[in-house]
Amino acid sequence: MFEPILTRNIHRPNSEKIATYLAHGGYAAVKLALTKTPDELIEMVKRSGLRGRGGAGFPAGVKWGYMPKGAGIQKFVAVNTDEGEPGTFKDREIVERDPHQVIEGVIIAAYAVGASRAYVYIRGEFFLGVKRWIKAIADAYEYGFLGRNILGSGFDLDMSVHRGAGAYICGEETAMLESLEGKRGNPRLKPPYPAQAGLFGLPTLVHNIETLACIPHIVERGPEWFASIGTAESKGPKIFSVSGHVNRPGNYELPLGVTLREIIYEHAGGIRGGRELKAVIPGGASTPMLTASQIDVPMAYETLKAAGSELGTGAIVVLDVTTCMVETARRLTKFFAHESCGRCTPCRIGSQRLYETLDRIESGKGTMDDIDRAVELARGIDGITFCPMGAMLVNPARSAIQHFRPEFEYHILNKHCLVCKSKERNYG
Ligand SMILES: Cc1cc2nc3c(=O)[nH]c(=O)nc-3n(C[C@H](O)[C@H](O)[C@H](O)COP(=O)(O)O)c2cc1C
Repeated sequence: MFEPILTRNIHRPNSEKIATYLAHGGYAAVKLALTKTPDELIEMVKRSGLRGRGGAGFPAGVKWGYMPKGAGIQKFVAVNTDEGEPGTFKDREIVERDPHQVIEGVIIAAYAVGASRAYVYIRGEFFLGVKRWIKAIADAYEYGFLGRNILGSGFDLDMSVHRGAGAYICGEETAMLESLEGKRGNPRLKPPYPAQAGLFGLPTLVHNIETLACIPHIVERGPEWFASIGTAESKGPKIFSVSGHVNRPGNYELPLGVTLREIIYEHAGGIRGGRELKAVIPGGASTPMLTASQIDVPMAYETLKAAGSELGTGAIVVLDVTTCMVETARRLTKFFAHESCGRCTPCRIGSQRLYETLDRIESGKGTMDDIDRAVELARGIDGITFCPMGAMLVNPARSAIQHFRPEFEYHILNKHCLVCKSKERNYG
């Protein structure tokens, strides 16, 4: 039985309150961290093997090491609570139920990289999350964990909350920085990376809140302990958001490397109604789907890559045999086409054409050429867009065609769905 680490507090009454956090050992890691040098902390995070939990999986310690050294430079920490990836709901639970764990991680990260200002960027629809962030930050100030001369260390840190307005692209780190600056959330060209030139052109450490929540534990229990959890290239605990056709959807904290089968059948209670599994999206809507025959794959960066998908945010969408894969691909592509910031042509136009092609196929108006056209459109978008969104948005359509091509052909030949046998759409 795996002992929860990141979610250990969330079921306690008043888990979001600073008194609860302190009563269970909270802020001890900050006290310990302030006795260490920034370089020692960066080294610890490197040795822990922690990789970013926001989707890209970049090694956190390496990113900390990229921040320029020197006391004379204004530096920032930007805390990503945008959580726009469909299927993902772990960050919302962390901020609503244990925000102090993240604040503690932010203080340690800011001290290690020499930042004196931290900005939280939160998705605007997270009304409770916004409230909890604001209250937690105010309490952290009151208890002397934020502000001037934190715990008598001479280290200063200010922190505030900025609400987004629900654009998916504003989760992409450079679009988030643009939005924080009060501009339209268009991604910036990289390099320069935020660690070199981020918010207001100054060095900025950007992290997802699950990544930051890991930091106090690494400091308190040691990097070797953290690295002992997981697999060769994927260390530590991970919160998996499980949704779709399972009996017990929810967030499950487990060690990286746990198999999809264990998550679906043991933790999430198996498929609803005892039905057969058809497909799984393993890391959020923008990761390639896997088939039922692939669920013995360990949920780790390296093993999912080898299986043709990605760990992404660790959001698992489970689809049973009643699911139309053409409809799934169309609906997800519609979301991404709608959320394209529109700045570059392959993403703006390509996503729309891809959606229209899938729509034709699903509604029985497509031709066999449309399947190859969809694959060709995906090829023309992947890898050539301004930001990674192009490479991400093609995954639902491309993987659905790769694994379930006969279903697309059936729609075209029979002018209705193989699964629901209906000419009508299930949903809009
Ligand atoms: C289109 C797009 C959307 C993204 N949305 C989010 C998001 O909602 N939350 C998040 O933490 N990271 C998101 N990311 C990843 C961020 O760009 C960035 O890698 C992450 O915040 C860095 O933190 P980490 O190293 O702790 O993962 C997104 C990336 C892309 C390309």
